[in-house]
This record gives sequence, structure tokens and C-alpha cells, in this order.
Amino acid sequence: MEDIKIRNAIISNIEQIMKIEHESFYETVCEDRSVFLDRILTFPDGFLVLEIDGQVSGYISSEIWNYLEEIQENFFDLNHSIGKLHAVTGSELYISSIGILKKHRGKGYGKLLFSELSRRITEKYNILSMILIVSVQWTVAKKIYEKNGFEEVKRIDRFFDDGTNSDVIVMRKFI
Ligand SMILES: CC(C)(COP(=O)(O)OP(=O)(O)OC[C@H]1O[C@@H](n2cnc3c(N)ncnc32)[C@H](O)[C@@H]1OP(=O)(O)O)[C@@H](O)C(=O)NCCC(=O)NCCS
Repeated sequence: MEDIKIRNAIISNIEQIMKIEHESFYETVCEDRSVFLDRILTFPDGFLVLEIDGQVSGYISSEIWNYLEEIQENFFDLNHSIGKLHAVTGSELYISSIGILKKHRGKGYGKLLFSELSRRITEKYNILSMILIVSVQWTVAKKIYEKNGFEEVKRIDRFFDDGTNSDVIVMRKFI
């Protein structure tokens, strides 16, 4: 049986986090190393890694926003600095990214990491809602979000520069 540990990311995990990122997303959709480092330093509680037998094999990152009912499309820009919108006193958790190493997908680790981040953050911060975007093509991720009670609130056409210019769905959940 695999030995599983979920903990906050630390700076020295960055090489493995970037490996997961590049296995998970189309090249032009991958975010920069500096963006991930900034997320770890700015909001360590919101950045978890999943270790399988001692190897970092998955990550999830997030930030806390002030709630705005009206969805602002530019808030979701790839590679935006966490410092632009993050406010620990805010009430909306934005889940910015999640990825699992290919060899460990389909074993329940994505949904485990997602629910663990939700649990830890809602216990510690005054979160009343959660928001994220998902490409229409990422059906596995979308399934995790729907099962966790997220609902579509908006579509953004041709959001990703991913070869097919895929649309994204903005999903939100109230707690
Ligand atoms: C999305 C991702 C993080 C999910 O992690 P995972 O460990 O593979 O997913 P899980 O094993 O936890 O499965 C989640 C659900 O999807 C289902 N599922 C998993 N792989 C599947 C597949 N290939 N086809 C259909 N359903 C699948 C599971 O059965 C499970 O559903 P259930 O709750 O009904 O049992 C992972 O696949 C990944 O890194 N994908 C690339 C990056 C990505 O798309 N990130 C999302 C950004 S929004």
C-alpha cells in the first residue's frame, strides 16, 4: 500500500511541482515557476502537496479573494501574481490550480487533495464561498468540482491558448 502524506508546500518542492505542472497542462497553459514560488511564500496554508511514498506527486494551490458577486474575467488571468487579489480577510477561496503526476491519476488522489484543501482552509479562515475555472475539456476535474457542490456560474469563450482555444467554465460554491 502507498504511504500518503498531505502537507504545506515548501520552496524546495518547486522542481517537482513544475514537473507535475508540465505533465498536467498544455505547454502554453502552464504557469511560471516564479508564480508558484510566490504562491508558496505568500499563502503557504493555501498550497498543499501530496506525497506518495516520500515523492511529491500532486499539488493544489489557492488564494483568498474579497467576494464580488459579479465575476471579473481578468481575475482568472494565468500567471497573475497572487499579490494582486489575495487578502486573508476575504471570504472567497479561489482554487488556482491542481495537478497529479500522470502515473498516479485515477486513484482518488485528486479528489482527496481537493477535499483536504477545502477542509483545512474552511476550518482556519472565514470562507463563505469558493470559486475556480475549468476548461470544458477537463472532464475529470469538472467531475470532482461538481461532486463537491460547485455549479457553473459563467462561461468564458476561447480562454485558453491551448491549440483549440478552449472555453472555460467558472464554477462557484457557497458554503
Ligand atoms: C484533475 C486531476 C487533478 C484529478 O486527479 P485524479 O487523481 O486523476 O482524479 P481522481 O482519481 O481523484 O478521480 C476523480 C473522479 O474522476 C473519475 N475519473 C478519474 N479518472 C478518470 C478518467 N480517466 N475518466 C473518467 N473518469 C475518471 C474518478 O472515478 C473520480 O470520480 P468518482 O468521485 O465518481 O469516483 C488529474 O487528473 C490531473 O492532474 N489532470 C490534469 C490537470 C488538470 O486537469 N487539472 C485541473 C485544473 S482545473
